[in-house]
Amino acid sequence: MRIKNIAERGSSLRIKGDRIAGVGEDREGRAEDELVLDARDGIVIPGLIDSHTHLVFAGTREDEFVQRCKGKSYLEIAQAGGGIQRTVRAVREAALDELVSLALPRLRRMLSYGVTTVEVKSGYGLTVDDEIKMLEAVRRLSELQPIELVPTYFAAHTLPPEYRDRREAYVDLVVSDELMGRVADEGLAEFCDVFCEESAFTVDESRRVLQKGKEHGLLPKIHADQITQMGASRLAAEVGAMTAEHLEHIDEDGIAALKQANVIGGLLPACSFYLGVPQAPARRLIDEGIPVTVATDYNPGSSVVESLPLTMSIACTQAKMTPSEALAGATVHAAAALARGDRIGRIEEGMQADLVILDVPSVDQWLSQVGRDAVQTVIKSGRVVYERST
Ligand code: NIG
Ligand code: FE
Repeated sequence: MRIKNIAERGSSLRIKGDRIAGVGEDREGRAEDELVLDARDGIVIPGLIDSHTHLVFAGTREDEFVQRCKGKSYLEIAQAGGGIQRTVRAVREAALDELVSLALPRLRRMLSYGVTTVEVKSGYGLTVDDEIKMLEAVRRLSELQPIELVPTYFAAHTLPPEYRDRREAYVDLVVSDELMGRVADEGLAEFCDVFCEESAFTVDESRRVLQKGKEHGLLPKIHADQITQMGASRLAAEVGAMTAEHLEHIDEDGIAALKQANVIGGLLPACSFYLGVPQAPARRLIDEGIPVTVATDYNPGSSVVESLPLTMSIACTQAKMTPSEALAGATVHAAAALARGDRIGRIEEGMQADLVILDVPSVDQWLSQVGRDAVQTVIKSGRVVYERST
């Protein structure tokens, strides 16, 4: 396959099998059987990578959105019995098939935005059966559509109501052979995440979960410094986490710790935008030389935002990142955050051919036209998997 008339990156791209075979000058004619795509002076970018989502869930929470429009905060709504706990109830009631059929159209839309890899967390089940059910749903979804899914075990999302007065017993369950051991043995997750937060898990509890996850071969990542500051980014550095994500309330110590331990900073600008709260200090992190990812945090409560390109535009306008930095956050840095930096996230000979043809001449123009659909064609592993009809 060949893509011709590209405005940037040389003027043509050659694809052989599932790999990029060459980047260079357009040549006339074409070999027999060669599929030639015309970029029509648009650009080609790497397939986008959404490195942080809670894409598998049941139920909706638009009434909470309305309450926030009227001035209530995310935490107040959660403390009144709403928030994550509500989605937990809905997910526990949903059958595996239902979780799969609810998630499929979400993935179909994400593909049309140019997204070719998505991380997906469990964390709305919080029992052995329901956490496994969520991760089985992710596995099933991987087989049903072209986006590559990266599963994360996230039983340490919140304390389920039946454990309200037995915190330690719940953490015991999270790290048990019965649950964490099974997830690892059955290859149901690659990463282990923890919500280290006053309203969720303490630093000590989070450390216990992440350390045990590491023993099982699950790579650590943390929801850190989202609502309060309690040293979660320092913990990320201590346990050698791949990423510390959210960071709305990171402090100078936390920034120094991430830098020193080479932890990637995970930014979720659509979440702050959606909740109407201040953004993480993206510029401080970038100016310190910390690589940062940009992801949607797509979930039914704090970020009902499926579009990674929209999120990238929000990163520019609200967190003062440049369009190039936002693109890096959704490609090369996101690939590294998902331990796939040697295979995806860059357009180079030998890399997997995950590519998006945009009908704009530059990334700056693309992200400046906030919310406009510029995706013409999406290629996953060398196959055309989406083409815009008009
Ligand atoms: O990343 N921070 C915790 N978890 C999600 C919110 C999940 C929800 O509200 O359902 C987040 O913001
Ligand atoms: Fe999240």
